[in-house]
Formats: sequence, C-alpha cells, structure tokens
Amino acid sequence: MSSKTRPLGVTAAHTYYTKLQYARTQSARVKYEQRRCRTLTVHKKDLPLKLAMTFQRSPFCAFVLLALLFLSLTLIVKKWHFGLQENEPFGDAARPDGSAPQRDTLRQQLQERQQELVLLDITFEDIQQQEGFNGKISLDNPTAADIGCEELGGVKAVDFLGSGYTKTVLKAALPNGLFVALKSVNHQGTDMRLCLDVFQDSQGCLELVSFKLRKEIVLLQKLQHPNIVELKGQCQDSILVGGITAVLEQGMPLQMIQLLQSPWEERFRVCLGLVRLLQYLSVSPLGSVALLDFQPRQFVMVSGELKLTDLDDASIHEPVCQEDSDCLLQFPLRNFTLRCSPAQTCKGLNEMRNLYNAYRYFFTYLLPHQAPPLLKPLIHHIMNATGDLKQSINETLIAFEKILHIYKSGLHLENLPTSITKDYAVLKGMRSVVNVEYRCWPSYRQQGCVLSVHSVREAAFICNSHTHCTSFSISSQTTWTGRLLASFRSGFSHLVPDVNSAVYMRRVKASGAVL
Ligand SMILES: Nc1ncnc2c1ncn2[C@@H]1O[C@H](COP(=O)(O)OP(=O)(O)O)[C@@H](O)[C@H]1O
Ligand SMILES: [Mg+2]
Repeated sequence: MSSKTRPLGVTAAHTYYTKLQYARTQSARVKYEQRRCRTLTVHKKDLPLKLAMTFQRSPFCAFVLLALLFLSLTLIVKKWHFGLQENEPFGDAARPDGSAPQRDTLRQQLQERQQELVLLDITFEDIQQQEGFNGKISLDNPTAADIGCEELGGVKAVDFLGSGYTKTVLKAALPNGLFVALKSVNHQGTDMRLCLDVFQDSQGCLELVSFKLRKEIVLLQKLQHPNIVELKGQCQDSILVGGITAVLEQGMPLQMIQLLQSPWEERFRVCLGLVRLLQYLSVSPLGSVALLDFQPRQFVMVSGELKLTDLDDASIHEPVCQEDSDCLLQFPLRNFTLRCSPAQTCKGLNEMRNLYNAYRYFFTYLLPHQAPPLLKPLIHHIMNATGDLKQSINETLIAFEKILHIYKSGLHLENLPTSITKDYAVLKGMRSVVNVEYRCWPSYRQQGCVLSVHSVREAAFICNSHTHCTSFSISSQTTWTGRLLASFRSGFSHLVPDVNSAVYMRRVKASGAVL
C-alpha cells in the first residue's frame, strides 16, 4: 500500500507508534542510565574509571553525582566543624598551646616567682633578727621610695637609656626638674618573646616577666649601698602608668671602651667601687648574694661612681653539698672547687663567683694598665690573688683600701727629688688663657693635657718628662681622691689674674734651652 492510499488513521497510528517507540527508547535509555548510575554507586572500586566513562557518555549522570558528592562533603565538613566547637574551648584556650598542661605550667611558674618574693622577705626578717643587723636600711624611710603612681602619672619620657632581655629604661624629667630613670618590662625583649612562644598568653607572660622587676624592686629596697642605684619610687598600678615601673636614680650606661681610655685614677675608682659592693653583698641583710648575670652592662656610672642596676638575676642561695666536688665553680677558662662546709653548703661560693667575675670583666682591663710605678707590685698581687681565687673579698678590699691610702697620701712619690721644683718659677694668683696647650694621654680634658697630681713636686716631675712642656698651672679643682688637677702647657704667655690658680714656668738656662 502506497502512502497516498494509506488512511489518515494509519499515518496517525504510525506517528503515534514512532513517538511511542521513541518514548520507549528514551524511557529505556533513562532506565538504562539509572541502572548504570546504580551500578556505578554499587561498585565503588571502579568509581574513578566509571565516573570518567559516565562523564563522557552521560553529562546528566555526572551532574547528579557531582551534586550528591558536593552535598555530602558539605555535610561532613559542617558536622566536623560544629563537633569541634561543641567539645573544645574558644580563643586562647582553644589553641594547642592554651591547653590545660601549658596553662598549669604558666600558673606554676607564676606561683614559684611569688614564693621567691615571699622568701626574700622571710630571709630578710630572719637575718635582721638573728644578727641584729644595724645597716643603714630603713624600709620606713619616707624619702627612700617616695615617688609613686600619682607623681608618675603626668611624667613624660624624654630619652631612651637602654634595654635588655627583660627591661626597658627611659629617662624622664620630674616636675621638680630632677631626672630619673624609669624601668619597666621590655615588651619586645627576649624574656617576653620566649614566654609568648611557649604559652601564647600575653597577659600571663606580662605577669611572669613583671615578677623579675618586682624582685628587683624588693632587692633594691633591702640592699642599699653607694654602689647600687638608688630606688626613688615605684608604681605597680597598671592603669596609671601602664604596667609596673621602678623609679631609679639616673646614670649613664657603662661604656667599657671609654673607661679604658680614662686616667688610671678613674679606672681604679670603678674597681674599688666594685670591690666595696661585692664585700657588702657577701654579708648583706639577705645573706651572701651572687650576681648570676655579672656583666659590665648590668652597671651604670653616676658621677664617676660605678653602680649596680640589674639585680633581677641575683641569688641568695648557696648550693647544698655532700662533698667538695659538689662545690664546683665553672667559668669558660677556669674551674674552681670550693670546700663543702660542715653545714653541707658550699659556703662562700657566691662571694667567690662574684670576685672571679670582677677579676675577669673589670680588673684585667682596668687595673694594671698605666698604674703609678710604685703601686704596680700591689696591683699585681691583687691580680694574682683574685685570678686564682686565693683571697677573700675582705682581703681584697683591704688590699684596695691600702692602695687608695697610699695614692691619696702621696706615699708612693716620696722618692721624687725635692729640688725638682727649683727648676720652676711660680706666679701665684695667675692663670694662662692662650691656647698653648699640647695633648697628652690619658688627659682629663680632650683638648690639652690635664692630669691629676699630688703636689707641685709631682707636677714638676711630669712636666720634665714631657718634651713639649714648658709650664703648668694648678688650680683648686680636685679629683675624687682629693688630688689636684694640673694643666700642662707648651708656653706661658697671656696670663690673667686668678686667685685660685698658680702658674709654674720652667726656667730657661743661659744657653736658651729650658732646664
Ligand atoms: N638607672 C639607670 N640609668 C641609666 N641607664 C640605666 C639605668 N638602669 C639601667 N640602665 C640601662 O638599661 C639597660 C637595661 O637595664 P637592665 O636592668 O640591665 O635590664 P635587663 O634586666 O633587661 O638586662 C642597662 O644595660 C643599662 O644600660
Ligand atoms: Mg641587664
């Protein structure tokens, strides 16, 4: 039958059939695809391979699968996230370092520091009672530490003086014009950084590091000596001054290089001050105190006097021992073994530690160089005795005081010929004003040659030994030992009246040469 003769119904039926066939095919395809999808889901081992094939053959199935995958992943992540929040604390405490054991360690350290402060108080009171200590210490002394939070409230820092592992020191002017040093915690210092690395607790670390400054304040209250910086006040109110602050007399950081270039008399003064300090520390109101971090940078200079400023590493304990070998004192180049006392402590260890450190950081650099010739044997004796720890701090102090006495009284100059002054003509009540100076080293003034002398005789002796010297003038100005300051010159023109001065001019021989 041709199509023309085919009844409409047949065509419609055909179309219907075709559509039905198409629909069946489509349904079969969908079912097939669904089956394939199910198969894919069941056989997980072949997942990647089948997924790839599915992506190729059926983007629809791939889409369904990807959507399912995305949904389940989101659910898993959310479940995990909220699960964590339910079980673990937030903030600092949520961090691994804020976990309970770390917090406990920090708390324990804070307690130990607090106990250390309490122990200092107890030891101090015990020793006071036992020995009826009659030192100059008076903690009730209102002038000892009378600058408080109120006074510090409006004070502005004017300069930076120094900083170390623990503290920062700023210069500040008080309303009365007095300059002081303000010591506070160094927030950028090594101590703070190390603490934060371990505990990541800024408040706790600040408290822990502040204990060092609190300990220093307690020690400064209990240990008072001309060679320890004076505590002028303190403030522990963090609202008013932003943390604990110690108010100290202001000094200049110790410059070893500068000190090495200064006259022997000034270098001797520094060493003598140190020995006096160490003698005091060996019998202090807290017992024998060791400076564990003994370095020149822990000291400052106040008007030529050495003063200890860093006390937070001071220790009042001497090790307990069973035998002598327990009392080992170790230094980079030498070790010493001390006696274990019948009371089973390494008695004297603190004193010896301080003394050897004084020898290696101060005496070796400052003492022997340019010492007056007749004092050299005494100096060498001190060097040998302290370098080998053969004498106590008391004996060392006696040796130092003896040198000071000789030096002040001029006993070491007795063999200078008395006739030497006859070479000079004196003009009393006069002073030279023209710059006819020459330089010498080490001079008290950078320009010119200014040295300390015991007498006119010593000045004449010095002038004779300088090739450029033709005159010297002596004023009433003295050094810390009471020796006179003499200015040596290479001429003596332009003299002006000065009741406090005298000019000594070298006489000229008949030949024209100075004598
Ligand atoms: N009273 C002071 N006057 C001037 N400078 C000072 C004074 N006290 C300390 N300094 C300076 O500040 C630095 C740090 O002080 P210090 O107490 O040694 O802190 P740290 O314990 O961190 O080492 C010192 O090395 C010193 O140079
Ligand atoms: Mg220091």
